[in-house]
Amino acid sequence: MFVNFRRIRRCQYVQLMTTCLVLSVVMVCWEQLDKSVVSHVKSYSYRYLVNSFTYINKSLTIPREQARSFSNFRYLLNHPDKCAGKDVLLLLFVKTSPENIERRNAIRSTWGNETYIQNALGVTVKVVFALGAPQARKEEPSWTKRFHLQEQLIHEDRLHGDLIQQDFLDSFHNLTLKLILQFHWTHSHCAHARFLMTADDDIFVHIPNLVSYLRDVSSRSVTDFWVGRVHRGAPPIRSKDSKYFVPYEMYQWLSYPDYTAGAGYVVSSDVADKIYQATLTLNASLYIDDVFMGICGITVGVSPQEHVYFSGEGKAPYHLCIYDQMITSHGHVEDIYDLWKTATDPQVKQKTSGLVGRLYCAAVKLALLCKPYYFNTYPCKAAFL
Ligand SMILES: *[C@@H]1O[C@H](CO)[C@@H](O)[C@H](O)[C@H]1NC(C)=O
Ligand SMILES: *[C@@H]1O[C@H](CO)[C@@H](O)[C@H](O)[C@H]1NC(C)=O
Ligand SMILES: *[C@@H]1O[C@H](CO)[C@@H](O)[C@H](O)[C@H]1NC(C)=O
Ligand SMILES: *[C@@H]1O[C@H](CO)[C@@H](O)[C@H](O)[C@H]1NC(C)=O
Repeated sequence: MFVNFRRIRRCQYVQLMTTCLVLSVVMVCWEQLDKSVVSHVKSYSYRYLVNSFTYINKSLTIPREQARSFSNFRYLLNHPDKCAGKDVLLLLFVKTSPENIERRNAIRSTWGNETYIQNALGVTVKVVFALGAPQARKEEPSWTKRFHLQEQLIHEDRLHGDLIQQDFLDSFHNLTLKLILQFHWTHSHCAHARFLMTADDDIFVHIPNLVSYLRDVSSRSVTDFWVGRVHRGAPPIRSKDSKYFVPYEMYQWLSYPDYTAGAGYVVSSDVADKIYQATLTLNASLYIDDVFMGICGITVGVSPQEHVYFSGEGKAPYHLCIYDQMITSHGHVEDIYDLWKTATDPQVKQKTSGLVGRLYCAAVKLALLCKPYYFNTYPCKAAFL
């Protein structure tokens, strides 16, 4: 009796201590937790209850002459004839920065190799790089450095003929200008391309999978097509420490309209044209380019759709069952050559087909994508495709 009593007391004591510990941890973290939880809950409710963003359009519409200030930059490098006279399935814009020459070269010799795509897949895909003017760095004698970098770009462009550069400063806060550059260039020089893709220069695109998907889609002559990793009901970030901080004056509502992660998404040519039209009358000072794309979408009445194998900011697990279906994966720089080789190896299709291959891959994908904790990759439902 006495022993039992003590044991109960000890149990209760342990319980009490654990509770206290948990409570104090929660209290210490509460402010942080509170802010982000509350803003997500608010933003989600707003997205699903109000879900009408027409007033965004109204309040961000400005006169055309003023909107032109976001697009009338001089071209420093241009290739107006890049698409001329060709039946282009996909125009692929890679957003890059002047100093990222190694990333561009890696893309040119892997997933962005137009010759390979033409020969191996039998379709025309045009790959161009969008960039602004080099920035001056604090630590260097600025203008000589900028001049030197621009000389290198001219040289690089002479070799490859694929840089589309405008005279705005290439910086994080000018990403929306780069977005506008892409839609305006497409409108003027490549409006007949059936699809337009915009991609970061540190992603991997499984071009054979993407091409076969787009071929399939275009055989059904789709319109209003906009696909990628969709962010729904994302709240604006009001904390000044964040890279994505947006002041209230710039965007005053609780939630952004739906948009696709800027790392990589595809639109059909009719959507590209509508977005172009939207940029002619919108205030583009909101510098988060993919959110701005969402605003353009809402003003012309197109909404994005989800494709589970567009990763957004997430990274694909390295496995042949994933390679069989992946479209994009984020965060590849050093490993891009290896990944290109292994992911497009003919063995991938062989090993993942047939009843045995499919059962094996179903199990592997379940294990790789459906984890009990969060990690940034394809969603669990991708395992059931
Ligand atoms: C692109 O692919 C072609 C044909 O497969 C190849 O000959 C060429 O070397 C590749 N280009 C680069 C930059 O690797
Ligand atoms: C964006 O580019 C313009 C034109 O070059 C420049 O004046 C401005 O400072 C840039 N903005 C940022 C935030 O870098
Ligand atoms: C565009 O929005 C910014 C704030 O985000 C504002 O400062 C600017 O005056 C607006 N431009 C026009 C032309 O209304
Ligand atoms: C957005 O605003 C413009 C100009 O005010 C208007 O012409 C257009 O119809 C609006 N679009 C939507 C979807 O409300």
